[in-house]
Amino acid sequence: MLINAQSNPLIIIKAWLLDAAKTSDMRYPNAFCLSTSADSLPDSRIVLYKLFNDEHGYLSFFTNYESKKGLDLETNNAAAAVFYWDKLGRQLRLKGKCVKSPVSESDDYFASRPILNQLNAKLSQQSQPIESLNILNDKLIAEQDTIQKNNVSFIDRPNHWGGFRLYFSSVEFWEAGEGRFHQRYLFQRTLSFDSKDNLEATNWKFCILQP
Ligand SMILES: Cc1cc2nc3c(=O)[nH]c(=O)nc-3n(C[C@H](O)[C@H](O)[C@H](O)COP(=O)(O)O)c2cc1C
Repeated sequence: MLINAQSNPLIIIKAWLLDAAKTSDMRYPNAFCLSTSADSLPDSRIVLYKLFNDEHGYLSFFTNYESKKGLDLETNNAAAAVFYWDKLGRQLRLKGKCVKSPVSESDDYFASRPILNQLNAKLSQQSQPIESLNILNDKLIAEQDTIQKNNVSFIDRPNHWGGFRLYFSSVEFWEAGEGRFHQRYLFQRTLSFDSKDNLEATNWKFCILQP
């Protein structure tokens, strides 16, 4: 893929995400490693991106706001993300700032999930210790019973669960080359947000990095 100073990195991300989605043997082509850091020790875990916005340059993932990552982001909203698509020989590195998704976006996504996923999102105090998973399972069964008896087909999104938008300030495209002659293209911009979390961003700066 031709990448240069005239390229729009957001359009390239979109193309790479589509290429990954079309690569049939990947179970989760939308999985990425998300790193957060509330203190001097960064933490990483896999999450799934569910929405990508090529106008403003963010991706959305959904989680428990009271989980380890949720609390990390409350303390420090800086985050890093990396996708790796083995078949395509591609790595995509992103850095930026996370802000909570608008309530309507979280509601819509929550409503689109199967009821069992909704119940688990409601009941699990993600990242909190528990003596035995049977305790959680019993709660789940009790909740399912109530739902069946009352003929309920959906539940409201709990306040502790929703989306984050990761707005990119740094985007690096990496493509594998022969004999480790890899191609690396870095785009960077400065982000700022007004009091309503509206994005203001500078133009992208571009450079090529040695492999
Ligand atoms: C393929 C895969 C996809 C996952 N997707 C999500 C996700 O979208 N949201 C989420 O909260 N956790 C997801 N998880 C679980 C996280 O990796 C992690 O265990 C959980 O969010 C708790 O992380 P924390 O304690 O750092 O907050 C996923 C795990 C895997 C392996």
